[in-house]
Amino acid sequence: MSDTPLLKIEHLTKSYRDSSSGIEVLRDLELSVEANEFLCILGPSGCGKSTLLRCIAGFEEYEGSVKVNGREEREPGTDRFMVFQDFNQLFPWKTVLKNVTYPLSINRKGDKDEIRRLALEALEKVGLGNFANQYPHQLSGGMKQRVAIAKALALGSPIILMDEPFAALDAMTRSGLQKEVLRISESEKSTIIFITHNIQEAVILGTRILVLGQHGQILFDRKNEMERPVTPASPGYGELWEQLHQALYEGRLSSEL
Ligand SMILES: Nc1ncnc2c1ncn2[C@@H]1O[C@H](COP(=O)(O)OP(=O)(O)OP(=O)(O)O)[C@@H](O)[C@H]1O
Ligand SMILES: [Mg+2]
Repeated sequence: MSDTPLLKIEHLTKSYRDSSSGIEVLRDLELSVEANEFLCILGPSGCGKSTLLRCIAGFEEYEGSVKVNGREEREPGTDRFMVFQDFNQLFPWKTVLKNVTYPLSINRKGDKDEIRRLALEALEKVGLGNFANQYPHQLSGGMKQRVAIAKALALGSPIILMDEPFAALDAMTRSGLQKEVLRISESEKSTIIFITHNIQEAVILGTRILVLGQHGQILFDRKNEMERPVTPASPGYGELWEQLHQALYEGRLSSEL
């Protein structure tokens, strides 16, 4: 089993149909992701990043296969947890604690006490131990995103899918959450697939960075071996930034860079 990647996508083709025609977003996409990788995906708007994540999450029908630990997955499951950009992904009528315990109860992750313990532990990990009894409207956008991450941690999801989770946050909150998600990915050994429009965010967070082209093709796929924490002063930062910028804005293949 050791050479089976955690996530393996083969021949993934996805089209959306409207009443008169169809649009093909992804064609024959191949991608393997190893356990503990922090994969950042960049790409122009409309190129199919969210579609790819939604296929992995099991929210869409598609051709080809998505395998987790060698097992084909076509439906949503607790092994893949999606954190959306939208702050309103929590139930507003439930407390923070109940928002985290709810998916655990649905998925029968233990008895009542165990579920409460798991949820509180996850909230501690994201620094929200003292907010368990608050309601979502009492939290900032960044705190709501941390609750969503706590849900994934409490569920023990090995793959966390993040679709521009920090895009709507101010720069300071965003930078704080980047540090937090890095810390969590390292301490929890989570595997994260993270979509962003921000090259700097990809370089700071990603242990591997992918750039998709206008038609959902993989233009750039490279490990980021810079020592962490990565800052703009890190050796190699400018070079990688430049390569990503060229792939992203000039659609150049990594072999041409
Ligand atoms: N449910 C849908 N029905 C029809 N077309 C869709 C649907 N969802 C997405 N599309 C189309 O598929 C293409 C890819 O969309 P997707 O949301 O995956 O792009 P994206 O890379 O995430 O873009 P952005 O960076 O703006 O979030 C777009 O042309 C979009 O209009
Ligand atoms: Mg998107």
